[in-house]
Amino acid sequence: DPAETLKPRPPVVTIMGHVDHGKTSLLDALRGTKVTKGEAGGITQHIGSYQVKTKGGDTVTFLDTPGHAAFTEMRQRGANVTDIVVLVVAADDGIMPQTIEAINHTKAAGVPMIVAINKIDKPEANPDNVRNRLLEHEVIVEKMSGDVQDVEVSATEGTGLDELLEKIALQAELLELKARPDRDAEATVIEAQLDKGRGPVATVLVTRGTLKRGDTFVVGTESGRVRAVVNDAGKQIKEAGPSMPVEVLGLGGVPSAGDVLTVVENEARAREVAQYRQEKATEKRTALAPT
Ligand code: GTP
Ligand code: NA
Ligand code: MG
Repeated sequence: DPAETLKPRPPVVTIMGHVDHGKTSLLDALRGTKVTKGEAGGITQHIGSYQVKTKGGDTVTFLDTPGHAAFTEMRQRGANVTDIVVLVVAADDGIMPQTIEAINHTKAAGVPMIVAINKIDKPEANPDNVRNRLLEHEVIVEKMSGDVQDVEVSATEGTGLDELLEKIALQAELLELKARPDRDAEATVIEAQLDKGRGPVATVLVTRGTLKRGDTFVVGTESGRVRAVVNDAGKQIKEAGPSMPVEVLGLGGVPSAGDVLTVVENEARAREVAQYRQEKATEKRTALAPT
């Protein structure tokens, strides 16, 4: 019975919002680290992915996204794998262009949203103004008699973090997120690059099954064999289950964000599937080519 092997999985929570509203700072505060300090100019250039343990012992997977207009596509990718969006709005700055864009992505993806009104430590903070202005975008928070959960936080002071995690856990419970860990893995590429020392590296989010060292796989039109699985702390691990973000080494080339990694039984099968996908891609290009 397949239902018997379905196990609860952690929610995948994407943090979105306008540039400098404190997305990375909030995630830093939740993790007890300082990612922002290591960022060039304090600007997030890629999707960071981390797991956080709540006081109640639950695990939550977070995806951090950049706030800059140039990174729309990256945010869209994040929205595709996400179960819950945390919309970060700075209480001093209010609703800004990328706030609205994030609201639109979230609605298009049909994903529940929690609003984190950040920087409430600032004297200029006006959280009620944020709640009011959200109405114009049909986001009606609890305090305005709506059903979108909102929480006032300060990433720098550490205020409201437990409440935020509680609301995420509550929302996740309603979604009844489940996956089968006891099968060959499928994962979605969050980002990928060619690393000088390590070769092609992909950060993937496991969507079902368990990804193991030694697995043969196809990702996009590339095949490969998992040489190493690296967790969000940079540590090599043997395997990764559902909702876990990991780096995968052992790829034949650099895949694209959004590509699906599928584990297959052996290398011959991997090559066969990769070739099939290559042919499909060529057909598509030919069909799209101007005549
Ligand atoms: P991008 O990734 O560039 O879009 O920015 P971000 O949304 O990740 O914001 P980031 O965490 O880089 O924070 C931007 C600035 O706001 C930094 O100087 C933070 O120290 C500051 N900041 C973040 N949260 C708070 C807060 O709760 N209170 C105050 N006072 N400052 C904050
Ligand atoms: Na920033
Ligand atoms: Mg950031």
